[in-house]
Amino acid sequence: MTDDPVPGAGRISGGGPAGDDPVPGAGRISGGGPAGDGPEPGGPEPGGPGIGRRGTLSVKWDAAGRIFGTPGVLPLWVADMDFASPPAVIEALRARLDHGVMGYSFAPESFVGAFVRWLETRHGWTVSPEWVVFSPKVMFSVSSAVSAFTEPGDRIVVQPPVYPPLISSVERNGREVLYNTLRREEGRYRMDLDRLAAGLDRAADEGRPARLLILCSPHNPVGRVWTPEELRGLGRICLDRGVLILSDEIHFDLVFPESRHTPIASLDPELAAGSVVLASPSKTFNIPGIWSSFAVIPDEEHREAFRRRLEEQGMSRPSLMGILATEAAYRGGAAWLDETLGYLRGNRDFLADFLSGELPEITTRAPEGTYLVWLDFGSLGMDDAGLKDFLVRKAGLGLNPGELFGPGGSGFARLNLGCSRSLLRRALEQLRDAVRDVTPRR
Ligand SMILES: Cc1ncc(COP(=O)(O)O)c(C=O)c1O
Repeated sequence: MTDDPVPGAGRISGGGPAGDDPVPGAGRISGGGPAGDGPEPGGPEPGGPGIGRRGTLSVKWDAAGRIFGTPGVLPLWVADMDFASPPAVIEALRARLDHGVMGYSFAPESFVGAFVRWLETRHGWTVSPEWVVFSPKVMFSVSSAVSAFTEPGDRIVVQPPVYPPLISSVERNGREVLYNTLRREEGRYRMDLDRLAAGLDRAADEGRPARLLILCSPHNPVGRVWTPEELRGLGRICLDRGVLILSDEIHFDLVFPESRHTPIASLDPELAAGSVVLASPSKTFNIPGIWSSFAVIPDEEHREAFRRRLEEQGMSRPSLMGILATEAAYRGGAAWLDETLGYLRGNRDFLADFLSGELPEITTRAPEGTYLVWLDFGSLGMDDAGLKDFLVRKAGLGLNPGELFGPGGSGFARLNLGCSRSLLRRALEQLRDAVRDVTPRR
């Protein structure tokens, strides 16, 4: 009797050298079909020319028509980049695809080890591997932390304008949002620490103290990279009042050379014990579609409460592709990241020059970190509905409306620089022409 042939046998190699395939690289990746009549990124951006994303199930490109009500907008919204991920990531995934079996998998020690090493070499932060808890997504961690560390009805501080899900996650968990709106001084945003202290004291006097503060660091959408002094000031206020800091540091690697990111828990042992840091390879290496993230929780009690919450929800283990992509990115993606940061910085400076030279009606402060730009349209005198309509219908742009970012967001829109320079130029030209149509000639 002969054994049944194993399905796929002959195509599966038994784990031999995986690297026979050529490395996917510049110019070889196509977006999965014809690019249609829409604009495509082009030029010498990271990832190479000719990457099209239409028809690839891209939220940014393929859902733009549905979201903005018209298919033709240039999509500069959702926070991912139009660039291929680091070759090391693609090689690692390709090797597994060539093997062909996508079975249950486990994360080796080297998985967390690669992340810990990255924190050490890139951020100068020494972290014990046991402090690190895997979570599939940063927003899953935020929601889990809210439910693990607070009770229904509790107050949680958020500092808008801020990434909208940080606000909705509090509300969806049945907690109350306590806003500490950022202050804008000569275009630069700061945390209003005096108002924070007063607000926390007032909440305590009312018998309903805040238990958690959600920090966004670097801050999406205003692009601030908080300084150690600012973080120490915030930390002191929270520690003195028993408020745990949940620090969403997903953009922590996307910082331009004039600034330096400081993980809040790296500042001193007291702050380490009083904070939970959320980080991820997703923004850094442009792999948000492959779910993988980490929480760094030095305090054992907090860590176990968080881990329990993840386990209760059955989401405490990484996926096979998440394991492979994450480790490959942290071990082999540094040069790609440096190149990408250089390109993003070029985009940032191009935008600043364009606005000051050709579009002074719209102002911004160049981001210190993140590839997001927070544009002030106040001088156009439009209400939010009018601005949204103007951007979509007159300028043909898909940007994130500022009003969604909570208090302080009205009159603004967020633009994503993670695109080719040629696409950015075209978007800015369309915006300039639309503004000229609605403002008196200069
Ligand atoms: C500040 C911030 N937190 C979290 C996320 C989402 O992270 P994840 O996809 O891991 O849930 C984003 C995505 O834009 C973000 O900007």
